[in-house]
Order: sequence, then structure tokens, then C-alpha cells
Amino acid sequence: MIVLGVETSCDDTSIAVVSDNKLLNCTTASQFAAHCTYGGVVPEIASREHLQQISDVYCSALEKSGVNPSDIDCFSATCGPGLMGSLLVGVQFTRGLSLRYCRPFIPVNHLEGHIFSAFINNTPPPLPWLILLVSGGHTMLIRCDSFFSYQVLGNTIDDSVGECFDKVARFLGMGYPGGPLIEKSAYSGSDCVRFPDVLLSGSEIRFSYSGLKTAVLNYSRKNSAPLENICFSFQRAAIMPLVKAVRESLKIFSPAALILAGGVSANSLLRELCAETAQEHGIRFCVPEKQWSMDNAAMIAAAAFFRQTKNCCGRDDFRIDPALKII
Ligand code: KG4
Ligand code: ZN
Repeated sequence: MIVLGVETSCDDTSIAVVSDNKLLNCTTASQFAAHCTYGGVVPEIASREHLQQISDVYCSALEKSGVNPSDIDCFSATCGPGLMGSLLVGVQFTRGLSLRYCRPFIPVNHLEGHIFSAFINNTPPPLPWLILLVSGGHTMLIRCDSFFSYQVLGNTIDDSVGECFDKVARFLGMGYPGGPLIEKSAYSGSDCVRFPDVLLSGSEIRFSYSGLKTAVLNYSRKNSAPLENICFSFQRAAIMPLVKAVRESLKIFSPAALILAGGVSANSLLRELCAETAQEHGIRFCVPEKQWSMDNAAMIAAAAFFRQTKNCCGRDDFRIDPALKII
């Protein structure tokens, strides 16, 4: 089965083709140059860029994958969460194709796409799964007992971990996106300060990253520690509580696999600690290759492929939803 996936929820125009979950091609046009002078994504610019790029990206993805449009069995696109204007471009473009070629259209939740990024070119592990989903918009622990059915075990009450990386990097004058830049700097740093714990106490798993951001800003205003040391201490304060929360969840729930996904899953410290934790508990560990951690269409096509093969794509009532939830 050949599936085309389209991802335009934020600032990348990305189109992928998979054949039986084997990735044939993923072509992405980055909007980095259009947004970088603003220090973040400007929604109006993003939707305009998607409009300009999407046809070329589509032609290029088809050509590189060696597939004719009439060979495609179903078309899929991210329908949320994300920026309204950007989502609209991708969904309407893809629905147009599905009508033109009389094939089904499968709307994909971007968060589910991230989860399935761990299974691009791979067979999913046995259920149930404990999922740590960490991106620019989300910080969640999710339980999955059966395909496409999710229960949120933990969440952030304010900023997401990725957002915190981005805001701290911006304040420190490092650029955007902050995660990879902070990770790189932390690599040559050492510990300089203990920042407050972002995992709140109580019976529920709740994170608060906004306090950590403020603590880093205050510390760097009052101290002249080297940048790499601030990055080291910040990265540890941002990452360790995620691992602690995974460990807490594993005390009350025995999954067959731990899945780490979302843009922050590219972080090496987080990957290593999650791998270690899974190994200690004797469960499988699945994480996307680093190139599929950040937003991309391969994960959307992979999620659509599994929805289609498991007969779970009848979503006639779907709508584009910038605030779409995972449950
Ligand atoms: O999943 P994603 O591409 O977009 C959203 O759906 O939000 O995640 C982007 C986020 C950004 O906040 C970026 O700073 C973060 O992922 N990120 C990282 C790393 N690479 C990307 N955070 C920490 N360490 C990294 N290596
Ligand atoms: Zn994402």
C-alpha cells in the first residue's frame, strides 16, 4: 500500500511517500530563513510560505520516490494541532488530490504522527506502550493499551519542555530553535547551579517549565557563569524530571515498550537516559531516528499507513483543529 503524507502544521512544508511503511522519500522545504530574523515562527508568513512551496515539494517527493500519483492508495495530512493557516494549506491541498484520484483522505493528529515516527521503516513493538511525547508544544506522558487509543498520564501546566529550551536560548542570545543549540553548548559545559525541579509534587504527574525559564533568566542576569555551564545545568534541570516521571509511571504501570517521540526526543541525554530506564525494566525502547524527531511528513504517512491497515481511519467528521488533543 502506498501512502502520501503531508505535514504543514508549523514552519516546514513536508511531503512523504511510504510503501508498506517503508519510506520511499520525504521532501521538506524549510522556512527557517523566512522566520529566523523574528526569533520564532510568524503564523502569517508560515501559511504564505506553505502556499508558495507545496506544489514544488509534492512534485519533488513524487519524482524522488518514483511513484505516480495514480499509484497512491491514500492521501493523508496533519489536521491539528498547529497553526490554522498552515494546516489549512496542507489539508486542502491533500483533499484536492484525494478527490482528483478518487482515493481516501486520512486526517492525522500531529501528536499521533510523532508517536508513529518511532515506527518509520519498523514494526511497532507489542502493546501496551508508555509514551513520552516531548515537543515544542507538548510535554506528555501517555498510556496506550490498544492502537489509536490514548490516556494522558501526565502533562505540563504551562510551557512545554521544547518551548522552555527555545525561550531560554532566545534570552541567552543563542538563536532558534533552542534545543539543538543548548544541547551543543552543554556538551562542553559543567554544572554551575541547581535550578528548581519542574516535576511538581503530588499524586498526579505535572510539570511546570515556566518557573525553570524564569530561574535561568534570573541566574544569568546575576551571575557571570560561562554560557556552556548555564546550558549544562539548564539541560539537566529540563531533562532529568522527564526521566523521573517515566520511572514513576513504570511503578504503577507495566508496559511492553517505552516510546520517546517529539522534537525534544533528538536530545542525546534524554535518549540515553530513556534507553537505560527501559533496559533496567526489561522493556523495549523505541525512538525515532534523529532526523525524524522534528516535524516531518514521514511520520504522518506512517501514522496514516497504520490507521489504514488497521481499518481505523473512518473520520468523516474530522475538522481542522489548531488545538486538537490526542484523546
Ligand atoms: O516536534 P517539534 O519539531 O515541533 C512541535 O511539534 O512542536 O519540536 C520542536 C522542539 C523545539 O522546541 C526544539 O527546540 C526542540 O524540539 N528540540 C530539542 C532538540 N532538538 C529539537 N530540544 C532539546 N534538545 C534537542 N536536541
Ligand atoms: Zn511536532
